[in-house]
Amino acid sequence: MTILTQSCTPFDGQKPGTSGLRKKTRVFMQPGYLECFVQSIFNGIDGVEGKALVIGGDGRFFNAEAIQTILRMAAANGAALAIVGQGGLLSTPAASHLIRLRGADGGLILSASHNPGGVDEDFGLKYNIANGGPAPETITDAIFAQTQTIHSYRTLDTGDIDLDRIGVTPLGDMVVEVVDPVTDYAALMEDLFDFNALRALFASGFTMTFDAMHAVTGPYARMILEDSLGAPAGTVMNGVPLVDFGKGHPDPNPIWAKPLVDLVMSDDGPDFAAASDGDGDRNMILGRGVYVTPSDSLAVLAANAHLAPGYARGIAGVARSMPTSGACDRVAEAYGVECFETPTGWKFFGNLLDAGRVTLCGEESAGTGSDHVREKDGLWAVLLWLNILAVRKLSVKDILQDHWQTYGRNYYSRHDYEAVDSAAAHALMAELTAKLGDLAGQSFGACAVTSADSFTYHDPVDGSVSHNQGLRINFDGGGRAVLRLSGTGTEGATLRVYLERYEAPGGDLNIETQAALHDIAVATAQISGLTERTGRSSPDVMT
Ligand code: G6P
Ligand code: ZN
Repeated sequence: MTILTQSCTPFDGQKPGTSGLRKKTRVFMQPGYLECFVQSIFNGIDGVEGKALVIGGDGRFFNAEAIQTILRMAAANGAALAIVGQGGLLSTPAASHLIRLRGADGGLILSASHNPGGVDEDFGLKYNIANGGPAPETITDAIFAQTQTIHSYRTLDTGDIDLDRIGVTPLGDMVVEVVDPVTDYAALMEDLFDFNALRALFASGFTMTFDAMHAVTGPYARMILEDSLGAPAGTVMNGVPLVDFGKGHPDPNPIWAKPLVDLVMSDDGPDFAAASDGDGDRNMILGRGVYVTPSDSLAVLAANAHLAPGYARGIAGVARSMPTSGACDRVAEAYGVECFETPTGWKFFGNLLDAGRVTLCGEESAGTGSDHVREKDGLWAVLLWLNILAVRKLSVKDILQDHWQTYGRNYYSRHDYEAVDSAAAHALMAELTAKLGDLAGQSFGACAVTSADSFTYHDPVDGSVSHNQGLRINFDGGGRAVLRLSGTGTEGATLRVYLERYEAPGGDLNIETQAALHDIAVATAQISGLTERTGRSSPDVMT
């Protein structure tokens, strides 16, 4: 086996976004494209000589082939050990856990998360650091800098290795260890949650449907929910991972998981339903007749986490991304713990979690997690909800009503304008940024602006500063609109408009969400000129 040094020229646009590098699959499949990026990762982290890496992905098209390439390159670059999920599969939270459990130096996770998979769809690759979390901006910037000057990469002159067989295989001077992707993760869940109480819940006839959306969580959910907790066979739907996710869009929201939502909204639907995304880090929570927004879910979990053994001592604090609703802030206030507002992107929670400042964190983009790993974790959120339901013996709907009656309700919705012309979207943001300073005191329809700014984050742990993290417009009475451009799209620009309005306990807590937010939506459209700029009269997706 010889080490080959292949010359290459830089590819444009290999800039890691909110969550690694995401491109069309065919872009990644161009000769040398993946190799240039992987070598740039290795170069950007001062090499991988003697290091241990965790490698796995969500099983989408090109996952297995890309892993073989990465393994050859890791071996040629002197890595000591590669821990790989069987069949090349590892959910993102399971990869984060494995990095921590095995004391690995980092990991490469192959996923485009909730984006569709297939030769004409999306692919992605990101690097996680030794704490198990996504690489911070200093590292992704260093990787990007490498992509712009790279002139060669190293690989091995050898064939593929068998990723389906659990065990250890040498590859050059590196050891490849193929592990069961589920076992260690399932053991962690059993440490955190009262599995006996959950078994009793299912034994009592409690019904649940989990939609794995033909993505990576299928094997995890079947082993934990059906095999270990005794939920009836069939509790997990779409449980077999497919390279194209069954041609679906593995994004757990009311649009893309509509069959599940229809099921749980019907009178004979299950007591509880949930879904996860392509790589298993997102979640959607539903109860019979009710959809729980991710922002509300974070708040409910923060208020009730102490009911699960892993959090019995209470939570140290909570963090949410800036566009996420302020529902969890009220819980933190009631419990007298800190609440942090970070930019969008899970990587911003890493320092707070490492420093023990927060126990739970979450984002409006269907992500919730805790200090058990350094990624958001879909199944973890589902199990924490189940643990709470088992202890409180209330329906999801009643838990939500009780929560609003205690803390008030943050009506919330995100409106997405997808595949907008990139120049038009940037012009809209630039124009709005320029006029932010003049908005306070002006009224738009029924809404008066109290303040407006562009969000800058000062990391309280390492002092780093992140500018331009979204435009905020606050309205009289606690309403708010946030506008930002997506950092994960692969086509044109996606404009996200986040709308929020607070209703105190005792107020009207059961208005239809879009109706509750109508005035704020109209004011926001007027302020931003979004109809003229985007050419769209309504959003493509409302979550
Ligand atoms: C990924 C990240 C999340 C982030 C989301 C935002 O899922 O892991 O932390 O909230 O992207 O995506 P956006 O498209 O809004 O930039
Ligand atoms: Zn994901």
